[in-house]
Amino acid sequence: MPEKIKIAVLVSGNGSNLQAIIDAQANGDLGPAEIGIVISDKPEALALERAAKAGIKSVVVEKTKELSREEYDEKIAGILQEEEIDLIVLAGFMRVLGEKFVGAFKWKIINIHPALLPAFKGTHGIADAFLYGVKVTGVTVHFVDEGVDSGPIIAQRAVKIEDTDTLGSLEERMHHREHELYPEVIRLFAEGRIKLEGRKVKIV
Ligand code: GRF
Repeated sequence: MPEKIKIAVLVSGNGSNLQAIIDAQANGDLGPAEIGIVISDKPEALALERAAKAGIKSVVVEKTKELSREEYDEKIAGILQEEEIDLIVLAGFMRVLGEKFVGAFKWKIINIHPALLPAFKGTHGIADAFLYGVKVTGVTVHFVDEGVDSGPIIAQRAVKIEDTDTLGSLEERMHHREHELYPEVIRLFAEGRIKLEGRKVKIV
């Protein structure tokens, strides 16, 4: 049995990806990974209820005016170190983590983005692709580096956009794809099967 890999899931809102990860863990599909903690910057995040329901420890770390960006990141880093977290999973976490934080957890932070990067970076990946009129979009899981949505790509899944699609119907299919892909990538990471060679990621 490979050693357990403890993950932290960082959220801000709905937490449907968190739910998919929780479900995968319950079904034994997360391999040696287990959720150690859920961290939210928003006390009202539905994701927190999902964590509570699953009996998973969670903590809210709000960005107050008194805290600088760096101090905020340090607070999160402190929790992650205390919890002995091996992998940081960003799942709809709406804050950009600073360079120092990213450097401290180099190649131990992953994010899911609802577009085929490097296309349609930013907060509205699904709508931007839909309004642009692309015929194929998709979801990307990538390592987090110092930039925004710019780190090495671990996995991508394509989603076709049909003429009959509305933004709503596309969003639904996109989220479904995300919920399949994210737990899969976490399992691969936990099994030590993700190798980074320069910018390229190989699954071994
Ligand atoms: C997802 O679409 C993800 O790609 C993006 O934020 C959204 C989070 O959704 N980064 P949820 O909170 O997991 O439901």
